[in-house]
Amino acid sequence: MISLNLEILRRNSPEESPVWKSYAYQTEDENANIAAALTDLNQTLENPVRWECSCLQKKCGACAMIINHRPRLACDVPLKEFVRAGSVKLEPLRKFPVIADLIVDRSILFQNLKTMQLWFAEEAKTNGSQTAYEASRCLQCGCCLEICPNFYAGGEFAGMAAMTLTARLLTALPESQKKEIFKAYRKHIYEGCGKSLACRDVCPAGIEIDKLLVHSNAVAVWKRKYRHEK
Ligand code: SF4
Ligand code: SF4
Ligand code: FES
Repeated sequence: MISLNLEILRRNSPEESPVWKSYAYQTEDENANIAAALTDLNQTLENPVRWECSCLQKKCGACAMIINHRPRLACDVPLKEFVRAGSVKLEPLRKFPVIADLIVDRSILFQNLKTMQLWFAEEAKTNGSQTAYEASRCLQCGCCLEICPNFYAGGEFAGMAAMTLTARLLTALPESQKKEIFKAYRKHIYEGCGKSLACRDVCPAGIEIDKLLVHSNAVAVWKRKYRHEK
């Protein structure tokens, strides 16, 4: 039997001040996770906790939230981690505007991709390289942006969520179409990143961000500098 308190930072709308609410929760399921607890809890509440989920399989990134001060996926975090402490704190991601309870508006993620023009063109060719595979595992969950000291919504630095897609495009676009991506990479990623790699430690997909970053920096910045191709 698992028994603990779910401490949830709640608000009904973006305008409301957030308030911590505590809910006692018990389950017989020793393998239950935060997502299961929220689902159960909501069966009992008149004003259910708003949170997002889709796959419940750590594949979509929708359930990203702050769990005991760390950005994580609710469907990836077992409750038994918190049994000894007796409680777990759930908050919405802080780098994005809150819509209600644990739901945030992550549209800035997609806005940044549009600004950087990160999309596949007709001529793009997919390939089976390790870099392409690693980059394509990004969930666009935003956990890396949450932890990043250099990212803020509306700033020029687009963060690791955009770096992964840039790395993916760099493996797929023909050389003739990479020039604009190189420029965007330099401006929106390379120049803003402090390379502390705190983002790697929180990435719920376990993406080898350090290797992708080294690869992309080499392709988009250093090799070009060496060739005097700014
Ligand atoms: S790099 Fe990792 S933490 Fe960042 S958006 Fe992709 S999956 Fe999420
Ligand atoms: S390496 Fe550091 S500065 Fe760069 S995206 Fe990751 S957390 Fe942010
Ligand atoms: S619901 Fe899809 S990652 Fe958690």
